[in-house]
Amino acid sequence: MNKISRLKAAGSRSVDEITGGRRLRRMRKADWSRRLVQENHLTVDDLIWPIFIIEGRNTREPIAAMPGVFRLTPDLAVKEAERAARLGIPAIATFPNVDMKFRDQTGSHILDADNIINRVTRAIKDAVPEIGIITDAALDPFTSHGHDGILRDGIIVNDETVEQVAAAAVLQAAAGADIIAPSDMMDGRIGAIRDALDANGFSDVAIMSYATKFASAFYGPYREAIGTSGLLKGDKKTYYIDHANSDEAVREAEQDLAEGTDMLMVKPGLPYLDIIRRLKDEFQMPTFAYQVSGEYSMIKAASANGWIDGDKVMMESLLAFKRAGCDGILTYFAPQVAEMLKGR
Ligand code: PBG
Repeated sequence: MNKISRLKAAGSRSVDEITGGRRLRRMRKADWSRRLVQENHLTVDDLIWPIFIIEGRNTREPIAAMPGVFRLTPDLAVKEAERAARLGIPAIATFPNVDMKFRDQTGSHILDADNIINRVTRAIKDAVPEIGIITDAALDPFTSHGHDGILRDGIIVNDETVEQVAAAAVLQAAAGADIIAPSDMMDGRIGAIRDALDANGFSDVAIMSYATKFASAFYGPYREAIGTSGLLKGDKKTYYIDHANSDEAVREAEQDLAEGTDMLMVKPGLPYLDIIRRLKDEFQMPTFAYQVSGEYSMIKAASANGWIDGDKVMMESLLAFKRAGCDGILTYFAPQVAEMLKGR
């Protein structure tokens, strides 16, 4: 007698006795039955596509740490927005790589109505009015030190930054932005932006707060993309949330809702699914995740090495956001995913 049958002889129960006949594999047996009981779905309606913008004409600059992602000149950004609209992607989010000559200690160029971000918004609105445009009102692409706020004597000054961010939001709305998404994490920015938008006739412009933005190393490739990696001294721990904290993230979201945000965002994405679930359960508000640059790059790098199936991991990671409670995801994979979903 071998070991197994000896154990059985000793009187172990049958599987049916153990499970009470409840066999969970029953519904997994075929593609049709798996599709029938599938709980969460990813569709093109879930996608927001972040794109990088640079001055010039007819040029797409590769970003070394983000294979397949480019800095686009305004004319090409318009073309890509047209492609996104054709694919059915609801919205794009723009991030500028600002010419060094326009960066200064206070990020003053964000208050130029004709800066690259506002020009691109106008051009896209003009050519593709049906796509939603999300702009970031944070100062980091415009500061000479890469911080999201005004830096004085080694301190990011909160209230003065909020004033500037709110003024920038009004200019972005005037250029045609549909959603202002401030990523700077200054206290009071949501309420100040809401007031400023309303006072200037933009009460229909929405706010998507980066409510829970964590101090994270996953932003590395993004800083190469917008050219802040060489500039940034120190870290952003005095304004982003400590990534060890979860209750604090709920308090941040609660505060932003009280100040008037229409939507919540969790950033980074995949390592923070617990936060997404908590916010969705707690507030039942439109909730988004930002699958950030480092998450994108990790999938691309492992895939390029043949270590994972990149397409499958991409789709699995995005569905995980839906399962966690997301209504949508900002992802650099957006056009690729939209193409794949179309092909189904
Ligand atoms: C800063 C900002 C960051 C990202 C977008 N805006 C983080 C940072 O540079 O600290 C990250 C986006 C990404 O990593 O994809 N306001």
